[in-house]
Amino acid sequence: MKRAVLCALATLGLAIGSTALGQSTIVGSGHDLSWAGGGQICVPCHTPHDAYSSTAPLPVEMVLWNHQATTQTFTMYTTLTGNTGTPDGSSLLCLSCHDGVTAIDNYGGNNGGIVMTGSAVVGTDLSDDHPIGIEYPSGNPNYHAVPQNNLPLFNDGTLDRVECASCHDPHGAGFDYFLRDTTAGSQICLDCHDL
Ligand code: HEC
Ligand code: HEC
Ligand code: HEC
Ligand code: HEC
Repeated sequence: MKRAVLCALATLGLAIGSTALGQSTIVGSGHDLSWAGGGQICVPCHTPHDAYSSTAPLPVEMVLWNHQATTQTFTMYTTLTGNTGTPDGSSLLCLSCHDGVTAIDNYGGNNGGIVMTGSAVVGTDLSDDHPIGIEYPSGNPNYHAVPQNNLPLFNDGTLDRVECASCHDPHGAGFDYFLRDTTAGSQICLDCHDL
């Protein structure tokens, strides 16, 4: 009896492990860009020296950014008023590959020219995607005062905003699609939306 319960628990654990848990390390993930980085994983995105400044050519986060910046014009999610009208902060970093235009292996002095294709391309039309660059409405009763389970907001100096990296950890956080929480039961949605 005891053993049967333990077996059942073990099986359940395995089932949860294989469905709910995704990539928890960047090594071997879609963001292991060592193929583009001369064997180095981080260098297509980060550099310890001579990184982009915080303001030019992009108003980006200070994350020692090394990748060529997107120069595309983006169509934003239009229903809401509380966004900036253009992607900013760390979302611009994501879109500097996921625009499907800026080459993955254009970083530092390297100009490889390999452009992303397939379902990972978000493109330049963001009007059909969850809003980003959007102020987090912490006073709204339909939202938690702050996102649950350590989902980060990104402060642009004035406002706390939801960016791509609020939902995704580009280095992997243990869930599929680099998500920061599970999609089971739509938990990642309920981390912000208090519905
Ligand atoms: C595909 C691009 C990409 C690669 C490859 C990448 N990063 Fe990042 N990293 C980002 C982006 C975008 C941000 C800013 C968003 C954020 O803060 O989560 C960031 C933020 C960071 C930060 C600050 C925030 C945090 O999560 O601690 C550190 C530290 C960091 N990266 C280290 C690394 C290291 C070390 C590697 C290599 C092992 C690496 N990254 C590889 C895209 C990348
Ligand atoms: C330097 C280029 C680059 C940057 C910058 C970058 N990515 Fe990616 N990303 C890739 C590549 C390459 C893949 C793999 C594409 C494929 O599998 O077809 C990928 C895959 C992904 C996937 C799919 C993972 C999966 O398991 O299918 C997600 C989600 C993702 N990226 C989100 C982000 C987010 C969010 C950011 C910013 C925080 C970001 N990426 C920044 C290049 C980049
Ligand atoms: C509100 C949360 C949220 C935000 C913000 C968000 N995503 Fe996602 N993303 C998800 C979820 C959840 C998935 C899982 C697949 C799905 O449901 O479509 C996903 C999937 C993806 C994929 C994989 C698509 C595929 O089919 O391979 C990529 C790439 C991606 N997101 C990039 C981005 C980028 C770039 C941004 C910012 C412009 C962004 N995401 C903003 C929640 C988010
Ligand atoms: C990091 C916090 C966060 C997460 C996670 C999140 N959202 Fe949101 N969501 C927001 C914010 C902020 C808004 C815009 C609020 C506003 O300005 O009205 C929003 C808006 C929306 C809207 C309304 C858009 C409109 O036009 O009124 C929908 C629908 C939505 N989110 C669905 C989802 C779903 C589905 C998920 C899970 C895949 C999700 N959200 C995850 C923060 C989040």
